[in-house]
Amino acid sequence: MNLILLGPPGAGKGTQAKHLQERYGVAQISTGDMLRAEVAAGSEIGLQARSVMEAGHLISDNIIIRMLSARIDQPDCAHGFILDGFPRTDPQAQALDSMLAGKHVQLDAVIELEVDDAVLVDRISGRFTCAKCGTGYHDHFKPLAVSGICDVCGSHNFARRPDDKRETVSARLAAYHTQTAPILPHYAALGRLHAVDGMAEIDQVTRQIVAVLDNLKAISPA
Ligand code: AP5
Repeated sequence: MNLILLGPPGAGKGTQAKHLQERYGVAQISTGDMLRAEVAAGSEIGLQARSVMEAGHLISDNIIIRMLSARIDQPDCAHGFILDGFPRTDPQAQALDSMLAGKHVQLDAVIELEVDDAVLVDRISGRFTCAKCGTGYHDHFKPLAVSGICDVCGSHNFARRPDDKRETVSARLAAYHTQTAPILPHYAALGRLHAVDGMAEIDQVTRQIVAVLDNLKAISPA
């Protein structure tokens, strides 16, 4: 199963990708996580990306397309992948079409998570992760079971993303509306686009996506 999760910053792409990865045994490919790893490693890409990300702008298509192309060739993608945060521009969508055609790989669905802008700022500014195991939390929507202790690994160390400041979130939302939302009609025209109510609770959003995917399996030829 090969999927794209599309939606504005804070729509829940990463949250849902993790659930789907577990359920379907496919690889989650988050270009945001890949870039943050480059920044943490101090690589050439990381040095270029850092200030762009902190300003809430998009990294150049050339860099992202090269990175994604190499990632999709990794063995863990052989059974399928979930693209989380890619494509984000028309050139990225075109490059993905060519990449998949060249590999004879089919895109099964593009899931659009629909969320009102007004709630996104609250979602993003309340988000934090365990610095040790990477489990994601939210101050209000997904709090720790015991204050100060990670539910999964017991660590006491947590991190907040530098681009999650309120003023940067506005720039990220603007980038979504001007550069990413315009690619939705491309996938609608291919008959691959499925919109899901991303305002619902996390488990309900997962159930909506699973229903779309189960329905696709039911109607696809064996
Ligand atoms: P990236 O890391 O991809 O960030 P993003 O798209 O802005 O998305 P987020 O990770 O902020 O949100 P999400 O939709 O994954 O939501 P989440 O599940 O975490 O990109 C960061 C930067 O990297 C970009 O700005 C750009 O600079 C660069 N970049 C990356 N890819 C690029 C590309 N292809 N081209 C160019 N540049 C690129 O959820 C958010 C919070 O809400 C969490 O706390 C969660 O618990 C909570 N939540 C989730 N769902 C719900 C729900 N249903 N109800 C209540 N709370 C919820």
